[in-house]
Amino acid sequence: MGISIKAPEEIKIMRIAGEILAGVLSRVVSDVKPGISTFELDALAEEFIIKAGAQPAFKGYETKGKKYPATLCASINEQLVHTIPSQDQIITSGDIISIDCGVLYQGYYTDMAVTIPVGKIPRKTKKLITVTKKSLDIAIGIIKSGIHLGDVSYAVQSYVEKNRFSVVRQLSGHGIGKNLHEEPTILNYGKPGTGIILKSGMAVAIEPMVNIGHWKVKTLEDGWTIVTEDGSLSAHFEHTIVITKSGCEVLTKL
Ligand code: MF3
Ligand code: CO
Repeated sequence: MGISIKAPEEIKIMRIAGEILAGVLSRVVSDVKPGISTFELDALAEEFIIKAGAQPAFKGYETKGKKYPATLCASINEQLVHTIPSQDQIITSGDIISIDCGVLYQGYYTDMAVTIPVGKIPRKTKKLITVTKKSLDIAIGIIKSGIHLGDVSYAVQSYVEKNRFSVVRQLSGHGIGKNLHEEPTILNYGKPGTGIILKSGMAVAIEPMVNIGHWKVKTLEDGWTIVTEDGSLSAHFEHTIVITKSGCEVLTKL
């Protein structure tokens, strides 16, 4: 297949798709409070996306013969990613919640995630969130055309491990554009100077997933929810960006 290079007209559309998604996510985040269910957050997200003239990207997304049934993924505490919103999952003070959402707008996708605390959380949990977010910021800070993909992976991994947390290995970021998931696969661990050389016009979703404990994760019986194997807390941040000569443009800026 090869990695698609987006033309300026395509980037223009993705920029709008990114603005819509960031707007939706920040409104959903502002509704996160103890007592609300993740199902309610999902309904809000869907409403905001449709009102903005876009479509939910995850709803109906097919992998391994099954379709994702919701607009967002709402993963709490040891739940890492891909947790289907539910009326039974009520947000409680002391939780951390990762909200992952995507939109499709005029044929192009954007994808984004944030992890936020609900009420008061312990210092180490706060650090998990700030380190995960910073690892994404570091990746965004170094990425530009001409560097190796492994440089980005290494930057994420080394920052996270320096802070004594672990990066998840079984999941990764990805190229994005006319499809939600495109080449290349963007690992959150790796070696500098390895992998493909990045080029201007590549659009990618970078998404570090970081655990307090071991990096191993497993999928629950529902076939979607991914949790840490050791039950430790996990955080996840994601931005869709487009690579430029001097750096990158974040399309899903809050
Ligand atoms: N942001 C998620 C990812 O890139 C999107 C998951 S799609 C879903 O893996 F349908 F599984 F939710
Ligand atoms: Co993604």
